[in-house]
Amino acid sequence: MQHVDLKEIRGGKLLGKKVTVCGWVRTSRDSKNVAFAELNDGSELNHTQIVFDKTKFDDNALAPMLALGAALRVEGSVVKGQRDGTYEIQAVNAELLGGSDSTYPLQKKRHTMEFLRTIPHLRVRTNTFNAVFRVRSELSYALHEFFHKNGYYYVHSPIITGSDCEGAGEVFKVTTVGFDPTVKSEEEYNKKDFFGCSAGLTVSGQLEGEVMATALGKIYTFGPTFRAENSNTPRHAAEFWQVEPEVAFADINDIIGIATDMIKYITKYLLEHCEPELKFFEERFEAGLIAKLQNVADSDFARIDYKDAIEVLKKSGKTFVYPIEWGLDLQTEHERYLTDEYFKKPVFVVNYPRKIKSFYMKQNPDGVTVAATDLLVPGVGEIIGCSEREADYDKLLKEIKDRGMKLSDYANYLDLRKFGTVPHSGFGLGLERMLMYVTGMSNIRDVIEFSRTKDDLK
Ligand code: 4AD
Ligand code: MG
Repeated sequence: MQHVDLKEIRGGKLLGKKVTVCGWVRTSRDSKNVAFAELNDGSELNHTQIVFDKTKFDDNALAPMLALGAALRVEGSVVKGQRDGTYEIQAVNAELLGGSDSTYPLQKKRHTMEFLRTIPHLRVRTNTFNAVFRVRSELSYALHEFFHKNGYYYVHSPIITGSDCEGAGEVFKVTTVGFDPTVKSEEEYNKKDFFGCSAGLTVSGQLEGEVMATALGKIYTFGPTFRAENSNTPRHAAEFWQVEPEVAFADINDIIGIATDMIKYITKYLLEHCEPELKFFEERFEAGLIAKLQNVADSDFARIDYKDAIEVLKKSGKTFVYPIEWGLDLQTEHERYLTDEYFKKPVFVVNYPRKIKSFYMKQNPDGVTVAATDLLVPGVGEIIGCSEREADYDKLLKEIKDRGMKLSDYANYLDLRKFGTVPHSGFGLGLERMLMYVTGMSNIRDVIEFSRTKDDLK
C-alpha cells in the first residue's frame, strides 16, 4: 500500500503536497461542519490530525472512520496546523481499512497499568506502550551498535541446554515425555526423553559465550533467557532478554570499564534518538528522568567493595526487614539504600563472598571472595551481574565438585581451562531492567509486551 509514514509530515517538508497516510484513530471530534481524527501509525509518538470537511464526506461513511481504534487510509494535502510548527492533513479521500466499535477497550479515559496488563494484545496502541516499545527497539539497536563498533562478534548461544549456568536450580524443563507411572527413576525418565538426558531452557548464554570468546576474542550474545524464579516481584520475569559480552584477556577491572562504557553509550544514544519518548516518560512516570540519564552519560559511576558496602548499611541507622552482615546477599532494600540514598547514582559493588555467588567466578587470593561485581542503579537495583571467570583448572574442578554439580555436564567447560586457558571476563545486562531504568517504568511487566511471570501467561 503506497503511503508515507506519519512522522514524515512533521517538519513541514511535505507542506502543500498531496500524500496518502495510514494509521489507527486515537481520538476524534465531530462538529457541525468539520470532523477531526488523530491518527497514529507507530512511526512516532505524536498523532497527526486529519481534517474532514463534512460537505465533502457522507455522514454515514464518516461516522465509522471516527471510531476509536479504527484503521484508515487517507489521501489529502498537508496544511499548517493551528499551533505553530504543526502540520495536519486536509482529507480529500478516506477509506476505512478496519472498523472498530464501542467495545474497543481503549476508550478516551486514562487506564490503569493493571487494566492494561489484561489486554497485552491492545495496550501497545496506547501512548505509553507505543513509547516503551520504540525505546526497547532503539536500546537493542544501540547495544548492537556499541559492540559492533568495538570489534565484538555477535554469537548465538543455544536456547535449549543441558547445564544450569547459574546453578540456582531455576531451569525450566524441556521435555516431550508425559507422565508415565511405569518409570522407576529420574534417570530412566530422562533416558526416554527427546535428548536422552535432562534438558532445559537456558538461564544464561555465558558458558557457550566463554567457548566462543576463547577463540574469537570478544563476543556478545543477545537473546532470551529463562528463569523459573518463584519470586513475584516487579523486577523478575520468567522470560527476559540478556546481552552478555565475554572478553578474552580481560580482568575484572577491564570488564568493569567495558560495562561502564556500554551503559554510557546506550544512554547517550537514547538521549539523542528518543527525545520525545523520554520527555513523555519524564512527564508521566519519573520527574527528573532526563537529567538523571544525562548524568549517567556524563559522570563516573561509584565503586565500593562488598565488605565496605556492608559497613555502610550497618551504619545507615536504617531498620531493614532483613538485617545485613558479611556473607549475606544484598536484598532489594539494601540495594535501594546504597543507590537511592547513599550514592544517588549507579554503583559497582565488587568482591562478593564466594559462597553466595556462582561456581565459575574467579577466586580472589583471600580465599573467601570472588572477583565479581553487580551494577546497581537507583530505582531498579541490580541491572548487571559481572565477573572475571576462574581460569584455573584445579580450582574450578574443586568448586564444581564441592557444589555437588554433575561433572559430566561441565566437561567441555573445564576443557577450556585445560587447553590454552586465559584470564577472561564477562557480564550480563538484563535488557528489561535497563529499560525500566531509562523509562521510569516501575514494573517489569510493562516493558515486555507479552510478559511471563509466575502464574501469568497471556
Ligand atoms: O546476575 P545474573 O544472574 O548473571 C548471569 O546470568 C551471568 N551468567 C551473566 C554473565 O556474566 N554473562 O543475571 C544477569 C542480569 C541481572 O543483573 C539482571 O539484570 C537480569 O540479568 N536478570 C533478570 N531480569 C529479569 N528477570 C529475572 N528473573 C532476572 N534475572 C536476572
Ligand atoms: Mg545477579
